[in-house]
Amino acid sequence: MMPNSFPTTRHTRHIMQAIVYAQNRRITPEQLAAVFTRSGINRPVDDLARMEKMLQHGNLLITAWDGANLVGVARALTDFSFCCYLSDLAVDREYQKNGIGQALIEQVRSAIGNDAMLLLLAAPSAMSYYPKVGFEAVANGWIIPRPSAVAV
Ligand SMILES: CC(C)(COP(=O)(O)OP(=O)(O)OC[C@H]1O[C@@H](n2cnc3c(N)ncnc32)[C@H](O)[C@@H]1OP(=O)(O)O)[C@@H](O)C(=O)NCCC(=O)NCCS
Repeated sequence: MMPNSFPTTRHTRHIMQAIVYAQNRRITPEQLAAVFTRSGINRPVDDLARMEKMLQHGNLLITAWDGANLVGVARALTDFSFCCYLSDLAVDREYQKNGIGQALIEQVRSAIGNDAMLLLLAAPSAMSYYPKVGFEAVANGWIIPRPSAVAV
């Protein structure tokens, strides 16, 4: 965890130099749950069996690392040919607003290539984020919500 006492500029410079991105590096359900929790994203972090399935069946995972610390994640499902659903984008609060989210999206775009569109559902708190990082709002999106009673 970054010390809070760092001045912003030094904090930012340190982070930008240190972050390493990895594609499909294996992480545990506990690590995924921890970075989700530290980001503030709403995901079923107390259900580790569900988290494990999310890792097992998602087929594109970009992770951001500060040394051995997992500080950001983009988890997606894609055919690398036509479409990609970006299910989870999350950055540890201590590391937010340093370009990590944008870098994770760029890594996803690079991995899926030019033939696949990138789709997502924005959390209310991120509605003004996605236009800043290249996404267009669509009027033709439709959803069938989860039939189960779980909230997320
Ligand atoms: C949304 C999130 C992934 C952004 O990651 P990040 O690493 O902080 O974002 P970046 O540093 O790449 O930000 C890029 C730009 O967007 C801005 N930005 C960051 N978070 C924002 C937000 N929630 N709303 C609006 N703008 C935002 C940054 O200030 C920056 O703008 P600038 O280039 O003018 O300085 C991160 O804040 C997060 O994990 N939030 C909690 C979970 C969440 O809501 N995830 C999205 C679920 S759909």
